[in-house]
Amino acid sequence: MKGLAGKRVVITGGTSGIGAATARRFRDEGCEVVVLARRSGPGVITCDVGDRAQVDAAFEHIGDLDVLIANAGTSVRTPAVDITADQWEQVVRTNLSGAFWVAQAAARRMLLGRGGVILFTASTNALVGYRYYADYNATKAGLVALTKSLALEWAPRIRVNAVCPGYVLTPMQQAEYTPEMLEAVNARIPLGRHATPEELAGLFAYLASDEAAYFTGSVIVMDGGETAGSIVSGPGGPGA
Ligand SMILES: NC(=O)c1ccc[n+]([C@@H]2O[C@H](COP(=O)([O-])OP(=O)(O)OC[C@H]3O[C@@H](n4cnc5c(N)ncnc54)[C@H](O)[C@@H]3O)[C@@H](O)[C@H]2O)c1
Repeated sequence: MKGLAGKRVVITGGTSGIGAATARRFRDEGCEVVVLARRSGPGVITCDVGDRAQVDAAFEHIGDLDVLIANAGTSVRTPAVDITADQWEQVVRTNLSGAFWVAQAAARRMLLGRGGVILFTASTNALVGYRYYADYNATKAGLVALTKSLALEWAPRIRVNAVCPGYVLTPMQQAEYTPEMLEAVNARIPLGRHATPEELAGLFAYLASDEAAYFTGSVIVMDGGETAGSIVSGPGGPGA
C-alpha cells in the first residue's frame, strides 16, 4: 500500500486474532510494528489499556509513531439483567476508556510531530442491536461517536476512522463454536461465511495508507452483508 513502508505502527491487542493478523500485515508492508498487550512476548510491550498510567508509560517508552490501531477489546455474553458492576466496569474500561487513553497518548505525539492515522476497531454491534452484549455494544457505539469527534478535533494533522467488522473467524471465536453452530451462523450471513482476520488486516492497511488520504471521521463496515438488510429482509421474509 502506498506510503506505508517505514511507518511506525502501534497496535493494541496485537497478540491474537485481528490484531495479530494486522501486525503481520503491517510488517509485510515494511512497517516497524509495536504491539501493546496484556501478555508479554517478543516485540510486545505489556500494557493494560484500561489503566491510564500504564498507557502513558508505554507511550513514553514508544516515543514517536505514525499509526495507532486501537484494537484491544473484550466481551462476555450475559443477559442485560445479569451484568454485574464489575463486568460493566471491565468492558467499559477496556473497550472505550482504553481506546481513548491510547488515542489521546498517540495524538499528543502525532500533533507535535509529523501527524498520523488513528484507527479504532468498533463492530457491527455499534450499529444494530444484539442480545446479551448490551455493555459491549454500548462501548462499540461509543467508539463510533469518539471517531467522529476526534476526527474533527485533530484534522487535518490526524485522520481518525473506525472499522466495524461483522463476524470474524478468530481462533477464540472458532473455539466457541461447534461445527453446526458455525454453519448456522454462516448460513445467515449474505456472503455465507465469516471474515478472516487477514481481510480485516487488509482494510486497516488500506486506511492507514496514503491511498485513503481523504478518509477521516468515517465508519467503515466490513460484514459480508450482515447488516445490509433487517431481520425481516432475510431468508423467509417478505420478497424472499
Ligand atoms: N472476532 C469478531 O468477530 C469481532 C467482530 C467485531 C469486532 N471485533 C473486535 O475486534 C477486536 C479484536 O478482537 P479479536 O476478535 O481479534 O479477539 P481476541 O480476543 O483474539 O483479541 C483481543 C485482544 O485484545 C487484548 N486485550 C483485551 N483486554 C485488554 C486490555 N485490558 N489491555 C490490553 N489488551 C487487551 C487481548 O489480549 C487480545 O489480544 C476487539 O476490539 C473486538 O471487539 C471482533
